Amino acid sequence: MDRLLIEGGIPLNGEVYVSGAKNAALPILCAALLTEETLTVSNVPHLRDVTTMLTLLGQMGVQISVDEKRSIQLTAANVVHPEATYEMVKTMRASVLVLGPLVARLGQARVSLPGGCAIGLRPVDQHLKGLQAMGASISMEQGYMVARADRLKGARIRLDLVTVTGTENLMMAATLARGTSILENAAKEPEVVDLAQCLIAMGARISGAGTDVITIEGVERLHAASHQVMPDRIETGTFLVAAAATGGSVRVTGARPETLTAVLEKLRETGVRIETGSDWIQVQASGVLKAVNFSTAPYPDFPTDMQAQFMVLNTVAQGQGIAKETIFENRFMHVQELCRLGAHIEVQGNKAITHGVPHLEGASVMATDLRASASLVIAGLVARGTTTVDRIYHLDRGYEAIEEKLSRIGARIRRVH
Ligand code: UD1
Repeated sequence: MDRLLIEGGIPLNGEVYVSGAKNAALPILCAALLTEETLTVSNVPHLRDVTTMLTLLGQMGVQISVDEKRSIQLTAANVVHPEATYEMVKTMRASVLVLGPLVARLGQARVSLPGGCAIGLRPVDQHLKGLQAMGASISMEQGYMVARADRLKGARIRLDLVTVTGTENLMMAATLARGTSILENAAKEPEVVDLAQCLIAMGARISGAGTDVITIEGVERLHAASHQVMPDRIETGTFLVAAAATGGSVRVTGARPETLTAVLEKLRETGVRIETGSDWIQVQASGVLKAVNFSTAPYPDFPTDMQAQFMVLNTVAQGQGIAKETIFENRFMHVQELCRLGAHIEVQGNKAITHGVPHLEGASVMATDLRASASLVIAGLVARGTTTVDRIYHLDRGYEAIEEKLSRIGARIRRVH
């Protein structure tokens, strides 16, 4: 199993380019199921989750090719197995995103229930409730959700809570339904907007994506289109936090500053200087960081996917900082590992209270999920001496070439087998 060896204590300096967004690419690849014509997707990050999604779509019969510019062409003319097996869904929960498109276009889908995962229970009741409202019949058969419908019909659906993939699944399903659907309490995440733009390019009639009410007028069929995936705001935020925590100065290019407002605000509060251009963000640390309080919440508020990384800043900042996690019930698994590096953190329910220490010391730590892994890498970059991060397969699910990118901005980091 691969691990990362990090020699910490060196400020990061330079420029780093951000990759396409994993959480936008995954639903957009699934959108290919909505048409028999070819969908071309560019700026797809090279990640394990993307490979998993392509394998899943390939198993169903989608024809996939990659051109010389690394754009991916997907043609779902002959979908033979409208199914996502337990093997696929347990590897990657986002596999559930095939459900909506399959029922909408083929009238049937068989998708394994996701089961528990490291960061919480994460049920899919809202996805199912929405599909049922559109006329699908849903049954549970041997751990699988089986959905059937002749043709979905438009419906007014009020989601009980804000769910990103739930909104995406239902928005995709509604594009081919008969009549108009209205999704209320929809997720406003930029990835939902990116997916909507792709669907609109395919001929869907969608308005309101990016607000909490999305209206979708169903059409008979969707057609071929090309779409470029948006930049990854979580990767962007991860580099910014790494630069700040190491006391460095880094410009992240190819980014979209407007998708990171809450993170940039909190970074400024720590005392670092932030400058932005249309497609770049520069962070410059000077002097001691101030600990900050933050609370995760759906977009446009502070993303849960940045909670673990941001907490590292608090571990070496002056004073007490509180991180409150309101989205997932079990998302503090990085805390014990950070404590192994010398951080002072106590967990009280959904709050992690950090008392800043002057420095962290290198140690062996273990990654438990994707964003927790990123936080351990940042902590390793901050800590004096050598840190070994084990089980980095989690990291490879969501960060493209992370050690190369970090090396280019001065990190001493290498992968060992
Ligand atoms: C997506 C992101 C993930 C991010 C999360 C929250 C993708 C592929 N993944 O995950 O990186 O951490 O948003 O921003 O885009 N819930 C229910 N019932 C449902 C659906 C969700 O109770 O039917 C709950 C979940 O358990 C969780 C909360 O709603 O507590 C938010 O989850 P959701 O937004 O659905 O997360 P994902 O879409 O799975």
